[in-house]
Amino acid sequence: MKILILGANGNLGTQLTKVFGDDPENEVIAWDREQIDVTDQELVDKKVADIKPELIINAVAYNAVDKCEDDEDEYDLAKELNIDVPRYLAKAALTNKAIIIHYSSDYVFEGNGEGEYEEDYETKSVNRYGKTKLMGERDVIRMSGMGLKWYLIRTSKLFGPKPENQDAKENFFDIMLKLSEKKDELNVVDGERSCFTYAPDLAKATKELVESEKGFGIYHLVNEGPATWYEGVKELFRLKNIETKVNPIASEDLERPAKRPKSSVLKNTKLSPLRSWKEALAEYVNL
Ligand SMILES: NC(=O)c1ccc[n+]([C@@H]2O[C@H](COP(=O)([O-])OP(=O)(O)OC[C@H]3O[C@@H](n4cnc5c(N)ncnc54)[C@H](OP(=O)(O)O)[C@@H]3O)[C@@H](O)[C@H]2O)c1
Repeated sequence: MKILILGANGNLGTQLTKVFGDDPENEVIAWDREQIDVTDQELVDKKVADIKPELIINAVAYNAVDKCEDDEDEYDLAKELNIDVPRYLAKAALTNKAIIIHYSSDYVFEGNGEGEYEEDYETKSVNRYGKTKLMGERDVIRMSGMGLKWYLIRTSKLFGPKPENQDAKENFFDIMLKLSEKKDELNVVDGERSCFTYAPDLAKATKELVESEKGFGIYHLVNEGPATWYEGVKELFRLKNIETKVNPIASEDLERPAKRPKSSVLKNTKLSPLRSWKEALAEYVNL
């Protein structure tokens, strides 16, 4: 299969490039911003038409949840990357009869009440980042009516090996490991319950989905077992024998511009479950 991966140097994009590229049946074209600026619709149309991929995977995104909440320029960038780009790519996929895979987030859900969401549950975001991801989803889904072949994969709390990309955002667990070297005590939010997801597991499950007989539509792919940030750090420090004290705090006690869902557990009702996050984390810390 001829596959175009965009955002190929990002956290997920790196793993997707590895997983799809390891299969000799695939011809993978892996691009990041050095090869294409995906916000340039004309360029996207031209390059996709030149390559004629059978599958386009969009791993480009704007993920700075707090930055875009109170900075208008950042919000514009978030809208461009999370709304315009998936629309451009979906259009290009439609024109070239390619399948598109687009990723979204648990932040498209409000996160109140029980806070567990099946794939078709009503969406409603509580912050700007979530709104942009939701709008991006809607454009892809809308084009389904025009014959677009699409998979929309929602995921949450992504972590995994740091990509070579110098600017790559550090994952939560790496940040906590660094902090533990400097501090005797850490305050960590014991809330915002959702599922940690190991990028190599998500990439593998994405490939399995493409190769399955499953229909197009929305899928939830996360490692099994919901956890708060606090529970994540406790498990990390246990695995690494770190003695830094971890204090649970409430979400409201950490001052941040963007509101977060209290609980946004993505329930996977359509595919085989991924392994537990604890198992994935143990593999990650022993790499
Ligand atoms: N990270 C999470 O915790 C999380 C949670 C839920 C859902 N998700 C979703 O999972 C997906 C993958 O996220 P991720 O964390 O792997 O993202 P990421 O690491 O930020 O990767 C995005 C990649 O896209 C590139 N890019 C940005 N603007 C571009 C442009 N104009 N043209 C071409 N490339 C451009 C980035 O390059 P630069 O680095 O140079 O900007 C980066 O390599 C996204 O849809 C995200 O919303 C992530």
